[in-house]
Amino acid sequence: MKLNTLLDCVENSQITINGSWRSLSVHRTVIFTGEGSITIGDNVQIKSGAVIYGGTDIGDDTIIGHNAVIEHDCQLGRGVFIGNGCTLRPETVVGNECTLGHLSVVEGCTTIGNGSLIHAQCHITKGVTIGNNVFIAPLFVGANDPVMQHRRCMVFGKFKPTGYRIGDNARIGISVSVLPGVSIGSNAVIGAGSLVTCDIPAGQVWMGSPASYRRDVPPEEYLID
Ligand SMILES: CC(C)(COP(=O)(O)OP(=O)(O)OC[C@H]1O[C@@H](n2cnc3c(N)ncnc32)[C@H](O)[C@@H]1OP(=O)(O)O)[C@@H](O)C(=O)NCCC(=O)NCCS
Repeated sequence: MKLNTLLDCVENSQITINGSWRSLSVHRTVIFTGEGSITIGDNVQIKSGAVIYGGTDIGDDTIIGHNAVIEHDCQLGRGVFIGNGCTLRPETVVGNECTLGHLSVVEGCTTIGNGSLIHAQCHITKGVTIGNNVFIAPLFVGANDPVMQHRRCMVFGKFKPTGYRIGDNARIGISVSVLPGVSIGSNAVIGAGSLVTCDIPAGQVWMGSPASYRRDVPPEEYLID
């Protein structure tokens, strides 16, 4: 696999800079690699040790932290913050003005809507849809394989991994776990430390392990876009 610096890639037309060079800050240790061209917007910062794979678009005003890895064909919107040590697996889409906290992992083929805030050390599995303005506190984990198959032992092959969905403006407390295929409705609130095992209707507070209904969220407490 070829590893390239920014200048190599620009010379070989593998990178298009959609802004002024003066506004761009790419540390000399950043590596660009893999197939496909990369687009970098205006006023982008990419910090030391980051690795960016081909096919990726980075929007204006976006910051990519130290040692972050952005794998192939990811789309980062405008004003995105990717924390230190994050990994975005292939085909992750991150909307405008989103934050992904330090050391978080997004396993790929996942879409995160505009304005969402995902705190540090979260693990978002493959094939997940997260809406706009969602708040996810630190240490969130989600599962997408109901039977925990191993690559070398696909005895349960008929069970397909299934992502989960989190609706617009939902809020999720610290250290919440979510099982495969569930859907969390818009404006729902999930209490800290909960295990979500079933669909959560919009606008309700659920908590506990397994999470159960606690009360409705008063509309005046909804997150405002
Ligand atoms: C769920 C939550 C929103 C509070 O809901 P609430 O309806 O206002 O709950 P209350 O504080 O009035 O507590 C009501 C009851 O639920 C219990 N409770 C509160 N939060 C709970 C939780 N996360 N899990 C289980 N039980 C919980 C309380 O102990 C209390 O029990 P009791 O009736 O036996 O005394 C809040 O407790 C919570 O978990 N917030 C998330 C905080 C967080 O993670 N922030 C992220 C910062 S980065």
